[in-house]
Amino acid sequence: AVMDNLLGVRAKEQQLSAVLQIDHCLIVPGDSDQQTKVLDDMGKLVSETLDLLLPNGDNIIAAMGGTTMAKIADTLSPKLSAHRKLTFVPARGGLGEAVDIQANAVCARMAFHTGGQYRVLYIPEHVSERAYRPLLEEPAIKDVLALVDKSASVVHSIGVAALMAKRRNMPLATIKMLEKEHAVGEAFGYFFDASGRVIYKIPRIGLQLRDLQNIPCVVAVAGGQSKAVAIKAYTKLAPKQTWLITDEGAANLILKGV
Ligand code: BG6
Repeated sequence: AVMDNLLGVRAKEQQLSAVLQIDHCLIVPGDSDQQTKVLDDMGKLVSETLDLLLPNGDNIIAAMGGTTMAKIADTLSPKLSAHRKLTFVPARGGLGEAVDIQANAVCARMAFHTGGQYRVLYIPEHVSERAYRPLLEEPAIKDVLALVDKSASVVHSIGVAALMAKRRNMPLATIKMLEKEHAVGEAFGYFFDASGRVIYKIPRIGLQLRDLQNIPCVVAVAGGQSKAVAIKAYTKLAPKQTWLITDEGAANLILKGV
């Protein structure tokens, strides 16, 4: 029976990759909206995937923030550092997140659990574009951005547009505009509709969507029924080499045709 289940899951993963048109999908049992344990299982797969894909030696891993990433960070294995020197850097900063789920915090936890190093981006989270521009000339910020440019891997989640806009206290006019334009998902500070059209981008520095094309190891981790629509939409923008790590909650809905 275990074997049957496993074969069932493998078939489902292949179906999902075909539907979403990305190279690899991995599905864990359950729904992370219902049980947080499911997120731990997704995290273990993130760790295994990185172990499979990252070459030996020096590796820079760019990480995003969010509640998913904050959880995933605690499941990364020290095994990842066995033949590697890992440095975690925030892929983008200043998106307006609470301190415990900022990319800076995620990088620190990832480094702690893997025995790697980390760097932080000292950019205020809630500040106008005009105020943060001059910061880009600061050596401490420039250094970290140069590392982001050299990253071999990016690990990120995908958010539900309306929730992300609210959580980040975006201006009411922007929230209204996102609704009017049918934004469904968000990743890297980009908001997009179900067809993958970018509607709005938080004007911040660091990694841009187009940069993903040149990064060999891209891992997207997002699950739960509530994220099915956002995940499906994001994959229309995602680079082909993306590994999507998700759960049955999201996968079953996508395969049913959300
Ligand atoms: C944000 C990332 O911090 O978290 C986004 O910048 C991502 O790119 C979002 O979409 C997801 O958040 P959560 O809490 O749903 O994991």
